[in-house]
Amino acid sequence: MYDKIFELGKKRGIVYPSFEVYGGLSGFIDWGPIGVRIKRNVEKLLRKTYVHELECLEVECPNLHPEEVFEASGHIKSFADYMTECTMCGEPYRADHLIGDERGIEVEGKSKTEINNYLSEIKCPKCSGDLGEAYSYNLMFETSVGPGKSKKTTYLRPETAQSTYIGFNRLWQVARRTLPFGVLQVGRSYRNEISPRQGMIRLREFNQAEIQFFYDPNNMFVEGFEEVSDIKVEILDKNEQTHKLSLGEAYREKVIGNQVLAYHLGVAYRFFQSIGLPGERLVLRQHREDERSFYSSDTWDIEYISGELGKIEMVGIALRSDYDLTQHAKYSGKNFSVTTENGKFTPHVVEVAYGVDRPIYCLLESCLDDRGFALKREVSPYDVCVFPLVKKDGVDVKAREIYGKLKKEGLSVFYDKAGSIGKRYARSDEIGISYCVTVDYDTLEDDTVTLRVRSDKSQVRKKTSEVIGIL
Ligand code: GLY
Repeated sequence: MYDKIFELGKKRGIVYPSFEVYGGLSGFIDWGPIGVRIKRNVEKLLRKTYVHELECLEVECPNLHPEEVFEASGHIKSFADYMTECTMCGEPYRADHLIGDERGIEVEGKSKTEINNYLSEIKCPKCSGDLGEAYSYNLMFETSVGPGKSKKTTYLRPETAQSTYIGFNRLWQVARRTLPFGVLQVGRSYRNEISPRQGMIRLREFNQAEIQFFYDPNNMFVEGFEEVSDIKVEILDKNEQTHKLSLGEAYREKVIGNQVLAYHLGVAYRFFQSIGLPGERLVLRQHREDERSFYSSDTWDIEYISGELGKIEMVGIALRSDYDLTQHAKYSGKNFSVTTENGKFTPHVVEVAYGVDRPIYCLLESCLDDRGFALKREVSPYDVCVFPLVKKDGVDVKAREIYGKLKKEGLSVFYDKAGSIGKRYARSDEIGISYCVTVDYDTLEDDTVTLRVRSDKSQVRKKTSEVIGIL
């Protein structure tokens, strides 16, 4: 199935390896013309949820940041993985992955000594040589900006969040100095992963959609919590206990210890369902104490249980407290506190951090049927295809006219006249287009067309005006 997804992805211009003609570069993918349309639709639905419904602000900031930012944020010191190299062939390995693969043991968060103990019992999978001491490897890409004396050390951002925090004082003004408020940033982030793997799951350059919600720490409640409180979810807590509860029950029973966290888990869960991910494959997983990022006091992921790749983290929701704003205040000398009717304080952050590439992989996997990707209309690359049955006798001219009419209605339409009609239906099914309109000789007489529906392959004869209404 995994191979089929990538085979179709390449063949139909959804997603494929970058730099292919030069042998590729691990951890980089191209979104092709069809994939870009799916991705834009997913991002559109994200904006519908967060900008339109939750009234978040949206920003776009640079990908390169000066090193001061990451000194303050702690990434220079702590954003690292342990790695090891074979003392004989020099092959590099990410220590936790190697120990996981060879011994089936989860060592994330374990000390360097413990990791070295495990490594001493493992040989290089390539040449059976001894493995070297574990060492810390920072995952940020370092570069510089400017020439000569003015040259500055910079890093490609490993998350969008920091640039949102740095702009806090301006955002606070735009938000009319009222808490809570959220700020979305959709963009690229970069991590120099030691061993990128699993196609588009662990990338070195990837797309994120991160929302930073700023709260008064004494008012971590949500007015609209009941909107999500009935959603039934499967939960794996930090002690690895499973629960099947509604979000309201999970909050009342203190399985999720904070209403804001429970609310945002509900919003994200609903978002994943809105793009077409099946609820029965989603699990809310709390990070273990030894696994949490250095900036977080409680983190929850929504994971997709993949038939192919195990658990895939699609969003992480973290209580980042006032950690980041306080750090930036300390390092920049600027003030990041606010004054409200409740006094002067530094806002606390609840971060909702989506990967964009991963949920799309999960979507492709979950909707693959025997004809291709059965995408929901909302995320599919086009609303409708238009096919002239033949390319002569004015049928193609009529088809172009109908194509133009549908576009004028604001629909996204794909015009295809290449190959047999069966092949055109098959290609459209592969990339998950819900409807096809076929124009034939009868259309010239009575302005009717065949409307074909992907889900059940049904075909009905309708007037063009009716088809426009249906679509
Ligand atoms: N900003 C959180 C993350 O990148 O995982």
